[in-house]
Amino acid sequence: MAKILESLWWQRGVIYQVYPRSFMDSNGDGAGDLAGITSRLDYLADTLGIDAVWLSPFYPSPMADFGYDVMDYTDVDPIFGNLADFDVLVRQIHQRDLKIIVDFVPNHTSDQHPWFVEARASRNSPKRDWYIWAEGGADGALPNNWLSIFGGPAWEWDALSGQYYLHSFLREQPDLNWRNPQLKAAMLDVLRTWLERGVDGFRIDVAHYIMKDPFLRDNPLKAKAVQSLHKSLGEYDTQDHRYDKGHPDVHAIYKEIRKLLDDYSTHQPRFSVGEVHIFDWNQWARYYGANLDELHMPFNFQLLGVEWQARSIRRLVDSLEAVLPQGAWPNYVLGNHDESRLTSRLGPQGARQAAVLLLTLRGTPTLYYGDEIGMLEAQIPPENQQDPWGLRVPGLGRDGCRTPMQWEDSPNGGFSPPGVRTWLPLCPDYLEVNVKSQLSHPDSLLNLYRQLLMLRKSFPSLQWGDYQPLDATPEDCFAYLRTMAGEAHILVAINFSAHELDLEYPELSAGVVILSNYMDRDEPVHEGRLSLRAHEGALVKLAHV
Ligand code: NOJ
Repeated sequence: MAKILESLWWQRGVIYQVYPRSFMDSNGDGAGDLAGITSRLDYLADTLGIDAVWLSPFYPSPMADFGYDVMDYTDVDPIFGNLADFDVLVRQIHQRDLKIIVDFVPNHTSDQHPWFVEARASRNSPKRDWYIWAEGGADGALPNNWLSIFGGPAWEWDALSGQYYLHSFLREQPDLNWRNPQLKAAMLDVLRTWLERGVDGFRIDVAHYIMKDPFLRDNPLKAKAVQSLHKSLGEYDTQDHRYDKGHPDVHAIYKEIRKLLDDYSTHQPRFSVGEVHIFDWNQWARYYGANLDELHMPFNFQLLGVEWQARSIRRLVDSLEAVLPQGAWPNYVLGNHDESRLTSRLGPQGARQAAVLLLTLRGTPTLYYGDEIGMLEAQIPPENQQDPWGLRVPGLGRDGCRTPMQWEDSPNGGFSPPGVRTWLPLCPDYLEVNVKSQLSHPDSLLNLYRQLLMLRKSFPSLQWGDYQPLDATPEDCFAYLRTMAGEAHILVAINFSAHELDLEYPELSAGVVILSNYMDRDEPVHEGRLSLRAHEGALVKLAHV
């Protein structure tokens, strides 16, 4: 047990992302809120068994991008409650031995943030340089060819002061200038404020965007569009985004942020995870810092786009293991508020394989609310669509993965009181797909997650052990060991095909199946022989190691 004690909560634990608008509405206004989250902590801590709750933004905001356009970094938007509600939530989270991670949005504010209002008032404003301004070219041409990820140019003309300002996202989200020392100091103060209020860590929004080319050079064009995300972003994908984000100076900022977090870690280990959409493994891994002195982890999004078959997934896991700097800790993500729902992407059988994979690989899993019951991507009729991205670029809307949590089959699914109009409609399948009904079905997806979370807690090798892929596997099977000296070793095998597979690992001798994603097996295996049914994933506790 010695080695596991050396691990930290964010390495051992499982992170659960709550989208506050959609988790639980405590006051019947159709939108979720902080008090609602507090009222559901028993579910998270006891029923499900996760370890840390990450809250997407709940700060005052005009909601042009549903809270990722922050107007005040240190308060709570009235939709979600107030600071007293936040303090209650933190206290109750800690009482249950859970951790709380909040979102930090460093790349941009809302255009209604007092800093921006002041900055745009005059070219001589003391806050002018807190944002990124540029002159137009001849005949009013844009300062350069940079594009907004949400469509159109990344520059907006400010008639009052006669310059353009940069917005990598919506025009209502002007980019901050982290090269300005006062701005940087103000943002570090934001972190301090929340640390003082007791938060355990930060999820850092588009962490790689905050430093851009100081000369604002044009991005080179690509001969052929290459996807920046898992979905095609149209014109945005025709550029090599060399200059509009990820400038190497970004690393000095994360070193400073890490130092700040370390200074606050004497009694309570604090943590940072960055949203870093970089798919070149070596560049991505740099965000850990050469001496593990930057982010504790950059989110690893590669499983979101991988071809769902054994060979590709193994290659992905092995590449990650190979690229990690010495001592760096891996992590995996299978869903979030920007991606279409896991069960819709992979189908019900894929979702069960995904649960096994996510909770047994070496690394911290992040689970998105509702994925544990297999919530589907909802089809939102045009008149109810909310996401500004989808409204601007049809097909890229993210409302479908942000619908209210499905707690039970009563009207509004236990999220809002019956009769209330919820901010997004519930996915109609909530009548069958909901927490209450899945708890009463022993083989439900929710019970599979609960079992996996329980086993992760019971077997140190699953939380903190080494990963060792097994080579002699059939083409369609991904199998690996999780091992730790002095602890039971666990073999994980997942059949990605629609036919039965026989595995033989005689050298692994005897063991016992402790879980199948069909939730119907607990028999011994002899002489390392294991049969897997179509799409089956199983965990075997090995008797001899
Ligand atoms: C990434 C967030 O995850 C997304 O929801 C948001 O729209 C952009 N950053 C802009 O903040």
